[in-house]
Amino acid sequence: MRKPMMAGNWKMNKTIPEAVALAKAIHDAVAGYNNVDSVICPTALCLPGVQAALQGSSVALGAQNMHWADSGAYTGEISPLMLKGLVSYVIIGHSERRQYFNETDETVNKKVLAALAHGLTPIVCVGESLEQNKSNQAHTVISLQVQDALNGLTSDQVPSVIIAYEPLWAIGTGLAATPEQACETCKTTVRGTLAQIYDNETAQNTRILYGGSTNEKNIGEIMQQLDIDGALIGGAALKVESYAAMVRITSELYK
Ligand code: PGA
Repeated sequence: MRKPMMAGNWKMNKTIPEAVALAKAIHDAVAGYNNVDSVICPTALCLPGVQAALQGSSVALGAQNMHWADSGAYTGEISPLMLKGLVSYVIIGHSERRQYFNETDETVNKKVLAALAHGLTPIVCVGESLEQNKSNQAHTVISLQVQDALNGLTSDQVPSVIIAYEPLWAIGTGLAATPEQACETCKTTVRGTLAQIYDNETAQNTRILYGGSTNEKNIGEIMQQLDIDGALIGGAALKVESYAAMVRITSELYK
């Protein structure tokens, strides 16, 4: 049984005091829903303050990005060594990083390997653009992204990775994929690729999230899909009522 996860990606939002206040409110609002992994990913600057605010909470902390090297001349970057002990998760290869900061499948792979080497759980984002979707290239594009991201991993390591399927046309647009569409891609393309490169057991043991315009209104239907194990939430994760409702709805479904 794969444990469901509601992971909030706060993106470049919230000052330090605002992030700490939101984390405290989330900590209180989701207390007791222990059958769901609640994860919040504030900006790197806010991580120490939010970590302190989450003391004793079941809410886990994640970073939004990291470099693959332990240290070095990489101005502005943050290394896995700096995140170790501070976060449990790290989002890798979000489409905004691929689109605006030139991240490639190769750098995503380096980061995945570095995260695992340091005991951090990578949440690897994959997904097709609107053009790729319209020209029926989604399967090929996503399958290659999955293969490249996991290059060099053994089948034992793969279930320690979380994959988030996020169609680019659904991110921040209010146009979520239909639950059936999202599930079909998670099942056939993402899990199917894992089964192809590794084996069926590995594929079944790996959590796959859906992301793109999820909220408290559509999460119930999304989480009823057998191959969707959770959500990577953008906008709705910034509102304590919406995020807590998503955790609560998921918790009910998994009882
Ligand atoms: P959204 O963002 O929920 O605001 O569409 C999702 C994401 O980018 O992870």
